[in-house]
Amino acid sequence: MIVLGSNSEVAQAFVEECLAKGEKFPIVYLLSSNPETTEKFAGHLQVKFLQNSEIIPLDLMNEIDYKALENINSDLLFCASGYLGLGTEEGLYDDENTAQIVDVNYAKLVPVLNFFAKKMESKRSGTMIVLSSVAGERGRQSNFIYGSAKAGLTAYLSGLRNYLFDKKVHVLTVKPGFMETKMTEGLPLNPALTATPKKAATGIYKAYKNKKDVAYVLPVWVIIMMIIRNIPEFIFKKLKL
Ligand SMILES: NC(=O)c1ccc[n+]([C@@H]2O[C@H](COP(=O)([O-])OP(=O)(O)OC[C@H]3O[C@@H](n4cnc5c(N)ncnc54)[C@H](OP(=O)(O)O)[C@@H]3O)[C@@H](O)[C@H]2O)c1
Repeated sequence: MIVLGSNSEVAQAFVEECLAKGEKFPIVYLLSSNPETTEKFAGHLQVKFLQNSEIIPLDLMNEIDYKALENINSDLLFCASGYLGLGTEEGLYDDENTAQIVDVNYAKLVPVLNFFAKKMESKRSGTMIVLSSVAGERGRQSNFIYGSAKAGLTAYLSGLRNYLFDKKVHVLTVKPGFMETKMTEGLPLNPALTATPKKAATGIYKAYKNKKDVAYVLPVWVIIMMIIRNIPEFIFKKLKL
């Protein structure tokens, strides 16, 4: 299994979910921009599941060393890479913040996903599970740089799924609503709309096994986003969302 964004608690909960369900992996490749922090999780996998893993440094804000990724092969990829950055009010005119949001969620991530998609295409098997966001469904004033990057990622994944369909590679787009992770630490989240990493991982695993194309983490977000998508623009632009 290949994991991108290995320090995400959702990614870690998903790896544990797979192992707890009896999935077997010769090795789990933990790609991470913080390889030292990832060591703790690698140790945990070894102790709890006797699961071998290898940590591969990968910072999307640096030049990607594709040579280091050449020998990484697996039928399952889970991508939790993402960066929320500053919201519109504080960050819209901060070019560094804007570039990092666009790069980590979309521009620098897509070539890496392409790299692994090509490997799966040539083997004619595999599943790519990628976490996008409900934020990509409609631009809102509070975080539309992040939302627009996720919108790009969602569209990319839709096209990739379409392209890889007859090559026997499956692409699952996950659109989480709120999840209780370090990304949302300190934000006032409504508990009824927020999933724990464990709950998110269980839902994503189910969607993966059921070969879903698109999955929301909590069902309530299907309804919320249906409403958000359908509010007429002349009303939507006046809302403080
Ligand atoms: N939490 C939410 O409410 C929520 C809602 C909707 C969507 N999402 C999406 O769900 C995914 C997982 O998010 P999370 O909540 O678990 O947040 P998180 O803890 O911040 O995880 C995101 C991971 O992305 C990786 N990352 C960040 N900057 C990177 C860079 N420059 N290069 C490479 N990797 C980088 C980091 O992993 P490493 O340290 O291992 O590199 C980080 O742990 C993200 O795509 C996020 O956008 C989250």
